[in-house]
Amino acid sequence: NCLNPFFYVFFGAASVSAHLQDLSFDGQKVFRVIPQNDEQVEILNSLARLMQVDFWQPDSVALVRPKMQVDFRVEAEKSFEVEDLLKESGVEYQVLIDNLQAALDAQFDSKARTGGHSYEKYNNWDTIAAWTADIAAQNPDLVSRSVIGQTYEGRPMYLLKMGKSGPNKKAIFLDCGFHAREWISPAFCQWFVKEAVETYGKDTVMTTLLNNLDFYVLPVFNIDGYVYTWTKDRMWRKTRSKNANSSCYGTDPNRNFDAGWCTTGASKNPCSATYCGSAPESEKETKALADFIREHLSTIKAYLTVHSYSQLLLFPYSYTYTLPSDYQELNSIASAASKRLASLYNTKYTYGPGAKTIYPAAGGSDDWVYDQGIKYAFTFELRDTGRHGFLLPESEIKPTCEETLLAVKYIANYVLEHL
Ligand code: ARG
Ligand code: ZN
Repeated sequence: NCLNPFFYVFFGAASVSAHLQDLSFDGQKVFRVIPQNDEQVEILNSLARLMQVDFWQPDSVALVRPKMQVDFRVEAEKSFEVEDLLKESGVEYQVLIDNLQAALDAQFDSKARTGGHSYEKYNNWDTIAAWTADIAAQNPDLVSRSVIGQTYEGRPMYLLKMGKSGPNKKAIFLDCGFHAREWISPAFCQWFVKEAVETYGKDTVMTTLLNNLDFYVLPVFNIDGYVYTWTKDRMWRKTRSKNANSSCYGTDPNRNFDAGWCTTGASKNPCSATYCGSAPESEKETKALADFIREHLSTIKAYLTVHSYSQLLLFPYSYTYTLPSDYQELNSIASAASKRLASLYNTKYTYGPGAKTIYPAAGGSDDWVYDQGIKYAFTFELRDTGRHGFLLPESEIKPTCEETLLAVKYIANYVLEHL
């Protein structure tokens, strides 16, 4: 990918400022196709070989199967060629986003940006980092901040611990921001912390949860990647580590865990968006999270990780089609949680084991955590289903977080009642 001249034309020179990034997505389109058979899947494969194609859903062309909904982004100059190719070969398609730059501009509110932190805006890393300090300082009896490690580029990975102090408390781990461009994810972690501190002592469920459980919240896991999406390339997904013998950067952190590592749905090519890394836990971020969880295995009872987009609630396994031994229980929790989520705005979620529900993909944090013995392991894929994709407008932050909160509270309460 990064050897493609397109990469340099559009992103390589954009290091100067966000201004150049503004120019870079003009005319780019996001297409949606549902290949009907192997032949049409092969057409997508040849397309991906012919030109720079950024797969939004699924994460890579290698994961495409017949009848699957496929969203991908192409550069402006190539969009006519792509349309012609799809037409010629009889593949039905839809233009999801006609001009990516317009969608990019539309993700931010028209209201002037104050520069300060807001739960209803996308906050950059510096703002989030400062917020972690503030929220802990303002709620000393409920929130404390620690650092679980440093990112590749040296940023501290802040972790918030929330709950009333008490003896032998069990905990729920929640993380956001694995994939850099999934901005709604960190927004949810911040929202969750806000809700906890604002409704403790008022909302009976939240009060019970915080009295009897601790929540570990990692608001942004892939901080370097997140910073990169704010400064250089809004569509970046991976970490930002340098790869040996390659000019391409980054590893897919959700392919980097030691769970069937790199056996399926992941790539050994450092230029791929689903590169599994040079070894399990090769990424400092993965190692830091895995170390923390290993050190707290006796207390952590549930693990929730938040991605976007597609509106899914997934549980193990993704590295194999084999169902987990707790399939029945996990499925009924996912069903009830999805129902709770939909009760607010009627947002429909699909749920099930990862491999079967979307695609097999090894090395994910949910599978690894589950195999460590943490039974309640779930992956959320938040709004939407492709209308805006990764560029969800800020006006949708509040409703998305509100509905997701209902599902998270449901799961947390279930875990508490089954300790
Ligand atoms: N879109 C997410 C990803 O591909 C889904 C994660 C599901 N879990 C998993 N272990 N693959 O990373
Ligand atoms: Zn993701």
